[in-house]
Amino acid sequence: MVNLGVSIGELKLKNPVIAASGTFGFGREMEKYYDLSNIGGISSKGLTIKPRLGNDVPRVAECDAGMLNSVGLQNPGIEYFIEHELPHMLSYGCVVIANIAGHQFEEYADMAKLLDKTDVDAIELNLSCPNVSSGCMAFGSDASMIRAVTESVKTVTNKPVWVKLTPNVTSVSEMALAAQDGGADAVSLINTLLGMVIDIETRRPVLKNNAGGYSGPGVKPVAVRMVNEVFNSVDIPVIGMGGIMNAADALEFMIAGACAVQVGTANLVIPTACNDIVISMEEWAQNHEVEEISSLTGCLRRW
Ligand SMILES: Cc1cc2nc3c(=O)[nH]c(=O)nc-3n(C[C@H](O)[C@H](O)[C@H](O)COP(=O)(O)O)c2cc1C
Repeated sequence: MVNLGVSIGELKLKNPVIAASGTFGFGREMEKYYDLSNIGGISSKGLTIKPRLGNDVPRVAECDAGMLNSVGLQNPGIEYFIEHELPHMLSYGCVVIANIAGHQFEEYADMAKLLDKTDVDAIELNLSCPNVSSGCMAFGSDASMIRAVTESVKTVTNKPVWVKLTPNVTSVSEMALAAQDGGADAVSLINTLLGMVIDIETRRPVLKNNAGGYSGPGVKPVAVRMVNEVFNSVDIPVIGMGGIMNAADALEFMIAGACAVQVGTANLVIPTACNDIVISMEEWAQNHEVEEISSLTGCLRRW
């Protein structure tokens, strides 16, 4: 028998597989494919204070080894989520994480205050793209802002707070340490890599927004390296993602240092991806006589 259970700080998951934000909606579109209680958790679509329609289309495009998206945080707003989506999500029987994104510094704490009164299991701060009131610098690439916003959220909630990091920085471990200093309970990485695809016939960018976030198998080596680097830098749990398509990919992240993984783009290709990964992971562990899947976290051997 294999124990697939993992802990992210005090939060317990029945297995390490979490559906990544923005690729699973609030679960409704996916519940017809399999029993969602089979997976470890679901991170909600990124939520904002006010409802958002997102960016103009085209806003998703396939590209080599993955896809680009510039969805632009389309969502019904935090209040609608809490009233109409969260109760249903909580009925799935897996861990539920609210992924939130602010356009102003204060919005993160405002949303966390509302979530604190709910039964959501954890809050994931998407610090990857929004601009701050003080200027146009990307939030997640400024260590002092990461620390400050994490602190501001931790002040208003007792829920576990995960800080989701962008790979579009020079030193991801500096950003992870800033999140830890701000009191984060875990860091999750990576969000998408900024990319651009051009149609040579029209000579236009394929996305209306010009650039977008690159995700899928092509980003995996970058993500694994970043997870390993962050694992070696911080003392808090690391949740790994970026290009996970199957159980072997997920195990690679765990060996690199992730205590749990998130699966994103794969859901758009194979709707049952998360479930398939849980099943194959258990088989792999059985065949390799691994009794506790959590024992793999950070077991990377050095040359
Ligand atoms: C269509 C799409 C929408 C996304 N929306 C969000 C979002 O709202 N919030 C967020 O934190 N990450 C969002 N992401 C990023 C994913 O959660 C994940 O970090 C990234 O895609 C890397 O994982 P993957 O290669 O498995 O997709 C989105 C990704 C995609 C493809």
